[in-house]
Amino acid sequence: MAGRLPYPITLTGDGIVLREWRSDDLDDLVAMLDEPEIARWTPMPSPFDVEAGIAYLKRSHQGRVGGSRIQLAITADGGRPLGEVLLFGVDLGLKEAELGYLVGRHHRRRGLASGSLSLLSSYARSTLHLSRLLLRIDPRNTASTAVAQRCGYRLTGEPPILQEGPYGPSRLDTWELVEGQAGTRRERLKNVAARRYGRRT
Ligand SMILES: CC(C)(COP(=O)(O)OP(=O)(O)OC[C@H]1O[C@@H](n2cnc3c(N)ncnc32)[C@H](O)[C@@H]1OP(=O)(O)O)[C@@H](O)C(=O)NCCC(=O)NCCS
Repeated sequence: MAGRLPYPITLTGDGIVLREWRSDDLDDLVAMLDEPEIARWTPMPSPFDVEAGIAYLKRSHQGRVGGSRIQLAITADGGRPLGEVLLFGVDLGLKEAELGYLVGRHHRRRGLASGSLSLLSSYARSTLHLSRLLLRIDPRNTASTAVAQRCGYRLTGEPPILQEGPYGPSRLDTWELVEGQAGTRRERLKNVAARRYGRRT
């Protein structure tokens, strides 16, 4: 991989289309991010109003064009955004990056976060050749730790990162994708089937 992350990209699989944010997503973005669970567990400003939305889309666009991060809207078919998945903090020397995700409250518990995290993790491994993929999660965020586990991430045992925020002190645990665990649900099932029949894919 060169110094810049690829832009624009679309990643597809498991009934999910991850696409670049667009300026006409503003209303959907504001409706999605102005929500208590997102305020509680992510660094988003709260309340998240139109002004915050304009600033967010601008910063996201700069990060994409500059190639420093990947920040994609989660959609079912390339249309309305249902959530977001990100890759940032890339260290090419260590072949390392951090990922993050959120899903709008009306679209939760349908596998969107885990499907999107699997797609982006798989892309980061196979196309970007990043070998150390990390998540940082407050252990009280049960939904997010469930997503991490389902996608093949495991706790590293590194000391927690201590933070002071609007909800008081918090600690973030570091999770790392276990070797060979990236991939969509379909790919994982295919690999299980291949192992069962003694073949390699
Ligand atoms: C965390 C979040 C992204 C999960 O999104 P989602 O699309 O509902 O997650 P999925 O449907 O892919 O669920 C994956 C797993 O998590 C479990 N899960 C999801 N929400 C859960 C909850 N509230 N409580 C317990 N388990 C939960 C699901 O049951 C599933 O586990 P399973 O495969 O064992 O059944 C969403 O709740 C959210 O946006 N929260 C606020 C933002 C946030 O916390 N982001 C992460 C910051 S580290």
